[in-house]
Amino acid sequence: MRDGGDLRRERHVVKAKAKRIFIGLIVVGALLQLVQPDRVNPAVEPARDWLASNAPPARVVGSLRAACYDCHSNETKWPWYSRVSPVSWWIVDHIKDGRKHLNFSDWPHDNPRKARSRWQNIQDEIESGGMPLKSYTWIHSEARLSTTDRAELTEWADAEVKRLNQLMAESDGK
Ligand code: HEC
Repeated sequence: MRDGGDLRRERHVVKAKAKRIFIGLIVVGALLQLVQPDRVNPAVEPARDWLASNAPPARVVGSLRAACYDCHSNETKWPWYSRVSPVSWWIVDHIKDGRKHLNFSDWPHDNPRKARSRWQNIQDEIESGGMPLKSYTWIHSEARLSTTDRAELTEWADAEVKRLNQLMAESDGK
């Protein structure tokens, strides 16, 4: 049989343990902040920017800036939580990966075939709704694209594919 004193002692031990776990978590959380990934944006060179070749309508630029630039350009706006580990590791990884696949600040101007495949992929992603990523628009409501936005973007991407096809056909004919 346990008396009241035993129970009290037990509760005291559990409380002390919870306190130790809580302090442990705070210490680990603080130590994680010491490991910070690189969040520096590479320089934007106007000549390398996609806008240098064929300027689209302002609405198309606006949509891409609002919905894609944080992950697919060198003009990333870093939110405050991108400074908090371990969330920062996940975000920085996303942006590195996004830029590797598609970077509006580093457009393949010298390679129409590559540029065409970029627009084809952009069109696919916008039509299928795969981009912008849901995990992103969940927080960034300004990045959500309306049906009209999507239609305008796919129309522009399609026109660029046709323009580049024409360009390649002309240079092949020479
Ligand atoms: C939150 C970050 C983020 C945003 C915002 C975002 N993307 Fe992406 N995007 C990625 C990542 C990460 C990848 C590479 C991995 C993958 O394909 O999921 C990617 C890949 C892509 C690809 C390449 C797919 C392929 O087949 O290689 C295209 C095209 C693309 N995104 C277009 C867009 C467009 C257009 C927008 C805006 C409408 C956009 N993305 C917004 C993170 C993002």
